[in-house]
Amino acid sequence: MKVVIKNIAELVQVEDHIQEKVSGSSMKKLCTLKDAFLCMEEGIITDFGPMENWQGIDNWNNTEVIDADGGMVFPSWVDSHSHLVFAETREGEFVDRINGMSYKEIANRGGGILNSAKKLSQTNEDELYEQAAIRLRELIKMGTGAIEIKSGYGLSTESELKMLRVIKRLKNTFPITIKSTFLGAHALPIQFKNNKKDYLKLIEEEMLPKIAIEGLADFIDIFCEKGYFSVEDMERIVNAGKHYGLIPKVHVNQFNIIGGVPSAVKLGALSVDHLEVVNQKDIDALKNSTTIPTLLPSCSFFLNIPYAPARKMINEGLPVCLASDYNPGSTPSGNMNFVISLACIQMKMNPEEAINAATINGAYAMGISKSEGSIAKGKKGNIFITKQIPSYAFLPYNFGHNTIKKVFINGCEFK
Ligand code: NIG
Ligand code: FE
Repeated sequence: MKVVIKNIAELVQVEDHIQEKVSGSSMKKLCTLKDAFLCMEEGIITDFGPMENWQGIDNWNNTEVIDADGGMVFPSWVDSHSHLVFAETREGEFVDRINGMSYKEIANRGGGILNSAKKLSQTNEDELYEQAAIRLRELIKMGTGAIEIKSGYGLSTESELKMLRVIKRLKNTFPITIKSTFLGAHALPIQFKNNKKDYLKLIEEEMLPKIAIEGLADFIDIFCEKGYFSVEDMERIVNAGKHYGLIPKVHVNQFNIIGGVPSAVKLGALSVDHLEVVNQKDIDALKNSTTIPTLLPSCSFFLNIPYAPARKMINEGLPVCLASDYNPGSTPSGNMNFVISLACIQMKMNPEEAINAATINGAYAMGISKSEGSIAKGKKGNIFITKQIPSYAFLPYNFGHNTIKKVFINGCEFK
């Protein structure tokens, strides 16, 4: 089956040479093609160019022609950091925060991650899958074409495996690329309150081997933060994960700088995520490394905490990635369009930088930039068509509105 999209007002993020990521001043460059067509065949982008070069169609029987009708075409968003699988929402804590409690105070009284872990232990695998599938469908309709999903609300062998099996089921049932991350070290479960050593041992000696046998994870993560896990814990868990072939992607510098960034870079992390607080040492450690900083502005918005200094990072030559952090506690939204708006409005990223950060750099942070994250021949036919909009900058400008008209995944319309 061949799909041709014609009359595209502007084809955004086109690449002649596939690049794995864009950094520093290059992030400001976004290649586009005005008045264009795009062909996809067997799920893959096979051709694109200016409308005047379009050769027409040789075999009408096997070809669907879609008129973009002056809308723009973007590569799908790549959301490289989410906690999409969870049992219930936590709007009670949201109200508590409105009334003056802090995220930390809520966590200290057994709320937060432990609240989600309790709810998850009481929810069966089928129910968890159904809830996650509804969320994922909604995200794909909002333009997300690849997503990373973490465990971390289980905190016991049984529940962590349950979460990871749900992610595996999503991988098998949804057409988009899904990568799975084991985040057993998300918080210390109550039973191990005064016994962190034994919990780390459980992760190393029981959880990881079982996860490896079932092939349930691609990445290893840990919440490296005061009151959660130390830099030493991170080194230990990341090395244990690496032993099973898992690539590190870690939560660092959300509330405090405790040395997680330089250490994660040394450990060869693919990404360091959050970075609401960073110092010059962190930025210097990231320079000339293969580790990409992944920023989560919807989390800053929802928790009312500082935004990561994206401008400084880009000005210092770093690549920057944007992701949702979708989870029930700190970010109950997986809308990547809103992430891009926030990046522009609050972090002073230019629309070009924000679009690069949420496409090609997101793909890098998931290890899939050879096959996703831009409009390039041979890449997956994961794209969306917008309504008629005056320019691509309108997309982040028009915050809170739905700009997307049609979504294609592997060259097929997703309805
Ligand atoms: O990335 N910071 C750690 N984990 C999540 C929030 C977890 C929660 O509150 O449920 C995050 O923001
Ligand atoms: Fe997170």
